[in-house]
Amino acid sequence: MPMPVTIKTPEEIEKMRIAGHLAADVLYMIRPYIVPGITTEELNNICHEYITNTQQAIPAPLNYHGFPRSICTSVNYVVCHGIPNKKQLKKGDIINVDVTVIKDGYHGDTSKMFFVGEPSTIAKRITQISYECMCIGIEMIKPGVYLGDIGYAIQTHAENNNYSIVREFCGHGIGRFFHEDPQVLHYGTPGTQLRLEEGMIFTIEPMVNVGKRHVKILSDNWTVVTKDHSLSAQWEHTVLVTRDGFEVLTIRPGDNY
Ligand code: MF3
Ligand code: CO
Ligand code: CO
Repeated sequence: MPMPVTIKTPEEIEKMRIAGHLAADVLYMIRPYIVPGITTEELNNICHEYITNTQQAIPAPLNYHGFPRSICTSVNYVVCHGIPNKKQLKKGDIINVDVTVIKDGYHGDTSKMFFVGEPSTIAKRITQISYECMCIGIEMIKPGVYLGDIGYAIQTHAENNNYSIVREFCGHGIGRFFHEDPQVLHYGTPGTQLRLEEGMIFTIEPMVNVGKRHVKILSDNWTVVTKDHSLSAQWEHTVLVTRDGFEVLTIRPGDNY
């Protein structure tokens, strides 16, 4: 159901700054807990408690189209939308934790990769390249740029490193609603799709696979995995288009992006 792309008012932008800051703070808070032996369900419970009690905010994933937990946890060959469960993390795993909070009616959405113990060379590399893909996309944002320009740059960086971009899931406008227009594809053709304007807010969240781009959904109807079971990594920020560039609304303390 396409909705017009909204231009946020200064009042809405201020609320999005607050929601974005809270989402980022959850990722900052959870970092020391990500160690061998902890389960993703325990991570979920710590985040849920922190969001609802400390932040007095709402975890947006919980009951969103029936999603059963408060965060998404996607381990190794899980691409996205992993459901926290009773399985323990082990040394060498990589995990994406994706947090979306609602505060005062507005959403902040961000995710990052974590290493559990010492990562393998390939785990480090897919994590790094997916991070660079997100950064390249973010740094292009300014009025007049086309979403197709951004998608093309992200895709090119992944493919130049012999990795692939997942096509079935994309970034999205965000605000009063979790997923608004536009769709922000992480692949594409320069000069096509939406032309950016000051006041738009959307996410960039490339999913990058070591192997082929194809994915499948498990029988829980949520968990997205690589078809070839190759490692996958993803990073996500919520970003505002400003008069002459961009403002990342989900920066964590001490991190660049
Ligand atoms: N946070 C995800 C995104 O970046 C969406 C998760 S939907 C859920 O768009 F239902 F799985 F939580
Ligand atoms: Co998102
Ligand atoms: Co997200």
